[in-house]
Amino acid sequence: MQTEIVTITDVNAQQEELRRAGKILRGGGLVAFPTETVYGLGANGLDAEACARIYEAKGRPSDNPLILHVADRAMIAAIAAEVTPIAEKLIAAFMPGPITLIMKRKDIVPDRITGGLDTVGIRMPEHPVARAMIRAAGVPVAAPSANISGRPSPTTAASVLRDMAGRIPMILDGGACHFGVESTIVDCTGPVATILRPGAITREMLTEVLGGCRLDPAIVGAKVVPKAPGMKYKHYAPKAPLTLLEGDPKGMPAAFRRTVRRLQQEGHTVGVLASREVVTALQDLVPQELLADYGPQGDLLTIAAHIYEELIAFNDTPADVLLGEGTTDKGLGLAIMNRLHKASGFHSLRI
Ligand code: TXA
Ligand code: MG
Repeated sequence: MQTEIVTITDVNAQQEELRRAGKILRGGGLVAFPTETVYGLGANGLDAEACARIYEAKGRPSDNPLILHVADRAMIAAIAAEVTPIAEKLIAAFMPGPITLIMKRKDIVPDRITGGLDTVGIRMPEHPVARAMIRAAGVPVAAPSANISGRPSPTTAASVLRDMAGRIPMILDGGACHFGVESTIVDCTGPVATILRPGAITREMLTEVLGGCRLDPAIVGAKVVPKAPGMKYKHYAPKAPLTLLEGDPKGMPAAFRRTVRRLQQEGHTVGVLASREVVTALQDLVPQELLADYGPQGDLLTIAAHIYEELIAFNDTPADVLLGEGTTDKGLGLAIMNRLHKASGFHSLRI
């Protein structure tokens, strides 16, 4: 199958291309598309056979449910059996935006996509291309991240192509994703909202709107079974093993110099994913192609937007071990640290 890349710079002027994408989706085909978080791999969310093609293209385990992307409230009403008061508040505060709400589902949602659960994840993206494509399809669009299962989520059309070339008919290219980490998943079915996956809608923002919320313990610990089925898989992992250095940002440059020297003396080719401050301090120790600068310390938006692309890029280098710099776990830092911990298999050193 030829994979066509269609660049969308203006959704109003490019209705014809979007209509074509909508037609592929309605016909049971797959279209990859940009959102404000990461690229999604879309199919008609009410068509079990179309959704089966997503699992096939990604090599995704069939017990891992898909989330449904909607353009408006009417589409939520069509698939959610109940919108709880917690869900109402979160819809009002954060939709459209980088959040997915777990709600009780209606029977119209195929079993095949919910992995047999009686709930469904619902996300209303803000990205204009995603919204226009869902409208053109006229149905809720099931979409996981557009990577092969287990690899980092793509945040550019080029990364989608690397994983999906020949497997899907169309990729809509809307440029690089703004946030770079997947949406915050919040379970709204219980008496207290529970964060199942941290993202750009932070714990602090949710607490402000709801007065309180829980964190699924699996987010911070390796040994607990997470409630979002997909969170249990090894994820986001580059090929070379990754170890994180965590602690006081001021001590990072010296800690990296020490650790890099030790590993190099043991004969390793070391790759480093770290802040500008650390990368600057390693110029004489580590060759340029093994140094990935994820942004200035504390600039969490920049860091989130870069980590996946840089983790992927190490796969094309001779690095046989990787060192990464931890951030704060406040605000967007919780999402960044969750992804880094998973990419490293929870392998960390305190400095
Ligand atoms: O930002 C995002 O959410 C992106 C873009 C494309 O929208 N999508 C995305 O989808 O990250 P995916 O499939 O890669 O991750 C969805 C996660 C998985 O971990 C899945 O197990 C979980 O949501 N999930 C889906 N339905 C669920 C449900 N009913 N209950 C609990 N977790 C669910
Ligand atoms: Mg994913």
